Amino acid sequence: MTPHIEAKKEDIAKTVIMPGDPLRAKFIAETYLKDYKLVNNVRGMLAYTGNYKDTKITVMASGMGMPSIGIYSYELYKFYDVKNIIRVGTCGAYTKDLDLFDVILVNACYSESSYAKTQNGCTDEMMYASSPLNFYIKEASEDLNKHITIANIHSSDVFYKENDNFKDIYNKYGALACEMESFALFHNANVLNKRAACLLTVSDSLVKDCKATTEERQKAFTDMIEIALESATKLC
Ligand code: HPA
Repeated sequence: MTPHIEAKKEDIAKTVIMPGDPLRAKFIAETYLKDYKLVNNVRGMLAYTGNYKDTKITVMASGMGMPSIGIYSYELYKFYDVKNIIRVGTCGAYTKDLDLFDVILVNACYSESSYAKTQNGCTDEMMYASSPLNFYIKEASEDLNKHITIANIHSSDVFYKENDNFKDIYNKYGALACEMESFALFHNANVLNKRAACLLTVSDSLVKDCKATTEERQKAFTDMIEIALESATKLC
């Protein structure tokens, strides 16, 4: 047990699929996992472990933002011997080239966050996803015939900005979209010699007026989850 996770060590799988929202973790377990059980409910940060096509998988929520995913991913890697974390989240598009519900596989993320510097003095402003994980995720998307866009993104500490300089970040770092967690997750994976990846669906756009139905949202979300779960069956 850790200060934030009550699960027994053997109840957490080597691969964790990590949505931000606890209710999404519940949905994934109920929809896709066989013989699943609830293994964490501290602060309602639900985690379930079960089987997907005979592969043991844990689905655990991260909460929102780098401080939150920073805590959970660090504890999973360090104290539960987790090898792979695949974040599944949403993002806001910085370019008209992305449509609502496009699925992005993150290559690298830029951040102005102090997370890495505070954590171990690292001053890198770009963090990279694990290439082996991205390889298997890309292969899974091809197996399932689901299109993904491989892209750089912006990992931000602030959702509501009075002055949004996203155009500068798009131009300088090639960031096509914004979310709030990958930078801390990738940093923790680097520090602890583990693997991390991030799949995102475009849930809103900073440059296009978009509207979507509940069905469209759910379909996009399930595409992303199915790619993540399929890739998890290829990992050890
Ligand atoms: N900004 C940050 N995080 C997000 C966004 C956004 O526009 N959309 C979904 N997650």
